[in-house]
Amino acid sequence: MSERFGKYDQRQYHTVDVAAGYAEWAKIYDRSVDRRLDLDLLKTLENVPWGILENAVDLGCGTGRIGAWLRRRGAVRVAGLDRSPAMLKRAARKGRYAGLAIGDVARAPFADAHFDLAISVLATCHVADIRAFYGEAARLVRPGGYVVLVDYHPFMLVRGIPTHFKTEAGTQLAIKNWVHFFEDHVAAARACGLALLEMRERMVDRAWIRAKPGMGSIANEPVSFAMVWRRE
Ligand SMILES: C[S@@+](CC[C@H](N)C(=O)[O-])C[C@H]1O[C@@H](n2cnc3c(N)ncnc32)[C@H](O)[C@@H]1O
Repeated sequence: MSERFGKYDQRQYHTVDVAAGYAEWAKIYDRSVDRRLDLDLLKTLENVPWGILENAVDLGCGTGRIGAWLRRRGAVRVAGLDRSPAMLKRAARKGRYAGLAIGDVARAPFADAHFDLAISVLATCHVADIRAFYGEAARLVRPGGYVVLVDYHPFMLVRGIPTHFKTEAGTQLAIKNWVHFFEDHVAAARACGLALLEMRERMVDRAWIRAKPGMGSIANEPVSFAMVWRRE
């Protein structure tokens, strides 16, 4: 059962909501997010035909890193949706999206079954209702289409480490999280006709610790995960 993060919090960083947090993080997001969390994980997926996707939608697209990655992999058109104007402004500058919309992942302003792929990266850990997210993602993809979800690992949240970053002023700022356990993902996705094809977890390995010694405190632990679903 999904839980509020607060009951696990071990860091006690100052915590703000998604709007305030990403208004601040947008200023430095592209140079502070670590590609090992998500892009390296996406590369390992074997069940998504990246090269033949005509229409994709990026839910919680942020500054557009994933749209740019999808376009490099051959996606023809990528639409993006995010609720943070500051993050979307940066995505627009990259010029990789066919269209960008402001709004909530649970109420996307796109037509039913329009997309071959709905992807969401590092966003659902901020979404209270995981069932609403999967319902919307399943609505957006055609039968046989794919839903790819990459997110911060619930083990990290249960260990008490929230989504956080160091601001330009040098203080740690956390952004409100929700803990969705794997049983929540499976129940929510199955309820809207999605079948699980693949799942991967990204561990903190020796190479990562060599590059970023601070990661040593979570050596060998999983920090992110990817799931590939197919609409039945
Ligand atoms: C950590 S960033 C990830 C951005 C991008 N997917 C990436 O991987 O670079 C999380 C993004 O999710 C967005 N977000 C969080 N909750 C959302 C919601 N309910 N609806 C739409 N966007 C949301 C935030 O505004 C932010 O841009």
